[in-house]
Amino acid sequence: MTRTTDRLEPSGLDPALLRAAFGAFPSGVVAVAARVDGRVVGLAASSFTSVSLDPPLVSFSIATGSRTWPDLRRADHVGVTVLAAHHDGVARQLAGPADTRFAGLATVTTESGAVTLADGVAWFDTTIDRQVAAGDHTIVLLRLHAAAHVAHPLPLVFHRSGFGLRQPA
Ligand SMILES: Cc1cc2nc3c(=O)[nH]c(=O)nc-3n(C[C@H](O)[C@H](O)[C@H](O)COP(=O)(O)O)c2cc1C
Repeated sequence: MTRTTDRLEPSGLDPALLRAAFGAFPSGVVAVAARVDGRVVGLAASSFTSVSLDPPLVSFSIATGSRTWPDLRRADHVGVTVLAAHHDGVARQLAGPADTRFAGLATVTTESGAVTLADGVAWFDTTIDRQVAAGDHTIVLLRLHAAAHVAHPLPLVFHRSGFGLRQPA
């Protein structure tokens, strides 16, 4: 299918349009988490992406207003779990009230404090390599120290503000 240029006539870049256009791009969802001051802190993020094999880097973007990031950024190591298809409820929980985000979830904590979910599709043990200011978000580059993955189950997909691939309303 060819794209007609009239689709890109100046129509404004208001946040609602941007959110809808950005949401047309499907992504996975990760849990980013660590033990900091004896407490597990973290959140769900769909902005995760692989960046570099050598050196091994991944990234995610965190909203500048995040109340979790000031604690999470102090972690020695940060765990990243690629969520599985059945984790839609877990993703919502990890985006909800901070004090109950990990309630009832089976987690694994490394000696250096990286926290991953026992269940998932892939896991990374990381440290924060660099933070790049990017508008209302900060791009966080994570350096990998270990990685693992399993073939099953399928990953969770986030698309058009919901889970699974979705036709526009
Ligand atoms: C599917 C999904 C994806 C999300 N992706 C991001 C993300 O990439 N970056 C981000 O800052 N917040 C993201 N959030 C929101 C966070 O999980 C969390 O709700 C938000 O950071 C507010 O909590 P905080 O103030 O404790 O950081 C996402 C939420 C959901 C449900």
